[in-house]
Amino acid sequence: MTPAPKMICMAGLGYGDRVTVYIDSKRRFVVRVSPGGILGTDKGYVKHEDLVGKEYGDSIVTSQKCRAYLLKPLPIDYQHGIDRVTQIVYPKDAAFMIYLAGITPGSHVLEAGVGSGFLTISLATFIGSTGKVYGFDINQHHLEVARRNLEKAGLLDRVYLGLRDIRKGVKLVGLDAVFYDLPDPWNALKTAYNVLKNGSPILVYVPTVNQVERTVLAMRELGGFVDIHVYELLLREYEVGKDATRPRTAMIGHTGYIVFARKIK
Ligand SMILES: C[S@@+](CC[C@H](N)C(=O)[O-])C[C@H]1O[C@@H](n2cnc3c(N)ncnc32)[C@H](O)[C@@H]1O
Repeated sequence: MTPAPKMICMAGLGYGDRVTVYIDSKRRFVVRVSPGGILGTDKGYVKHEDLVGKEYGDSIVTSQKCRAYLLKPLPIDYQHGIDRVTQIVYPKDAAFMIYLAGITPGSHVLEAGVGSGFLTISLATFIGSTGKVYGFDINQHHLEVARRNLEKAGLLDRVYLGLRDIRKGVKLVGLDAVFYDLPDPWNALKTAYNVLKNGSPILVYVPTVNQVERTVLAMRELGGFVDIHVYELLLREYEVGKDATRPRTAMIGHTGYIVFARKIK
């Protein structure tokens, strides 16, 4: 017998809920609805109290009579919606890294460095409420910014943040994946090897080919990793108009390279 469809209960937004206030593709703001809160934009302001009781998919108007749509927050909304103190791992790269790593709800992963926490937000989303990200950085200020960004995204409870030079090792074992976005990942390969489960992957993100080469050569020299691959992703967005659909003229020409490998005994 076909199971009965699940009933979905649509309750309105309340204080403490998160919502993406979308005016246009350059103006999207993730808001945690709070008493007395005001979202200020160059298209006018929105009082949080006016969001209470609205549902995802509804719209409101700003003080300058601009229409704004209320959407369910997605990881990509945080790309411009977080405080940035470092370069971040772009969504196209984060998505492929998470896919390559085989992250599922319940995965336990190590990440270093945490930086602004954008990759951490992506990881914390996909590991679910039963997973854990152990995130390390050598810079206390970066960790504080990442903590605020994770709190804003409502994901802090899935993340442990620690001040540590990851090259010196860490007391963790049996992890499902390691993610590095570091200047010298080749100096932290032993740490990755020691924390990973046998057969599990490491994903390294670096902006230059010189770093790719040093990382892969160090993996070969150290041993303990197989199935080594290097990837670069180019993403083109399209503009759609009647009889005028074509790629956008401008695109992000370079972000970083992804090195993938898997631990062996
Ligand atoms: C490019 S940022 C990471 C950005 C992050 N992936 C994101 O998406 O927001 C690199 C970070 O690595 C940290 N870092 C550099 N060397 C480190 C080390 N040996 N151990 C831990 N963190 C380190 C830096 O302080 C910096 O915050």
